[in-house]
Amino acid sequence: MDLYEYQARELFEAHGVPVSAGIVASTPQEAESAARELGGGLVVVKAQVKTGGRGKAGGVKLARSPQEAADRAEEILGMDIKGHKVRRVLVASGADIAREFYFSVLLDRSERRCLAMCSVDGGVDIETLAKERPEALAKVAVDPNVGIDEAKAREIASAAGFDAETGEKAVPVLLKLWDVYSGEDATLVEVNPLVLTEQGEIVALDGKVTLDDNARFRHSGHEALVDKAAEDPLEAKAKALGLNYVKLDGQVGVIGNGAGLVMSTLDVVAYAGEEYGVGPANFLDIGGGADANVMSNGLAVILGDPDVRSVFVNVFGGITACDEVAKGIVAALDALGEAASKPIVVRLDGNAVAEGRAILAQANHPLVTLVDTMDGAAAKAAQLAAGSDAKQSDAK
Ligand SMILES: Nc1ncnc2c1ncn2[C@@H]1O[C@H](COP(=O)(O)OP(=O)(O)O)[C@@H](O)[C@H]1O
Ligand SMILES: [Mg+2]
Repeated sequence: MDLYEYQARELFEAHGVPVSAGIVASTPQEAESAARELGGGLVVVKAQVKTGGRGKAGGVKLARSPQEAADRAEEILGMDIKGHKVRRVLVASGADIAREFYFSVLLDRSERRCLAMCSVDGGVDIETLAKERPEALAKVAVDPNVGIDEAKAREIASAAGFDAETGEKAVPVLLKLWDVYSGEDATLVEVNPLVLTEQGEIVALDGKVTLDDNARFRHSGHEALVDKAAEDPLEAKAKALGLNYVKLDGQVGVIGNGAGLVMSTLDVVAYAGEEYGVGPANFLDIGGGADANVMSNGLAVILGDPDVRSVFVNVFGGITACDEVAKGIVAALDALGEAASKPIVVRLDGNAVAEGRAILAQANHPLVTLVDTMDGAAAKAAQLAAGSDAKQSDAK
């Protein structure tokens, strides 16, 4: 899970990383009182969206008075930054920046270790820096079992080109940023810019943190960081049901058992759909050993997706027996009743296939079509998705 800057800032604060004082606001009035609470002087009004380059996009603005803070918030709230709508701003005390640095630590999966990156030329777009002047961006491997200790922090600071005095000031901050990374089970902690102020302090003025969702059970506070309002409602519903679901932007709902089978189902649907201009609407793996109930929940989620025009159930029975899948489809259709109005193409094979097909044949539901092959079923589902589209637009 990626965090908003204000959430990253809270974690920084909790681990002793110096940050500038800040208050979140969701209206211009709130921004005004936040600026007043921060002393009434210079503040920065910052769009809270989970994307970088907010400054360039006009989402970070200076304000010299509480009234100006309200005006800037008015401009920034509701803005669209790279497809992210701004619902909140962070009003932060303005820092007197002497120099801007860059620091990050992340999980380097391919090397099975962590990687720290640091530069004395921060504040700029780091991808550009890495491309144009790679020598200005130090990359230092970090052993996850040791972490960033004092020696490692000095190594990073010196590789980045810090002078001795500034380096000594930066070292304790790098140690604390490592505390955030390891203590919170993050896979990324990035600060751009980490600044030296005119007063000689090192302060983190921006923060980007990605937390490892697999470690959420170890952190009672992390659940509260989930932005429920921004979550896709279907993904949230699927997650609550324990389903492995990812929303995509096509029209053919896809359900299968096993991530590999579902991935290849997405491929065949995309291929078959080319002719009709349709594609897969989602990824949904009901997993191995799924029973009728899981199947039924999965189908309910997919049929609830307004973009879905047809559904392709592709199951290769192994531990998950085809008769359970068939029962799940029948149960879901019974439960949904009139609400189930989309055609469902089913391809069953493997364990208990004869029983599964018999259950579907017996139910004889008008929306269900059995197709023997995966390619044939994908083509049928794509055709149905395109056909129901035609009907819909006729009706309009
Ligand atoms: N509290 C602050 N005080 C002064 N300047 C700031 C403050 N926060 C950000 N800035 C300036 O705005 C720039 C952009 O802000 P930042 O938080 O890095 O957003 P982004 O990286 O999304 O553009 C920073 O590089 C810094 O120069
Ligand atoms: Mg930044």
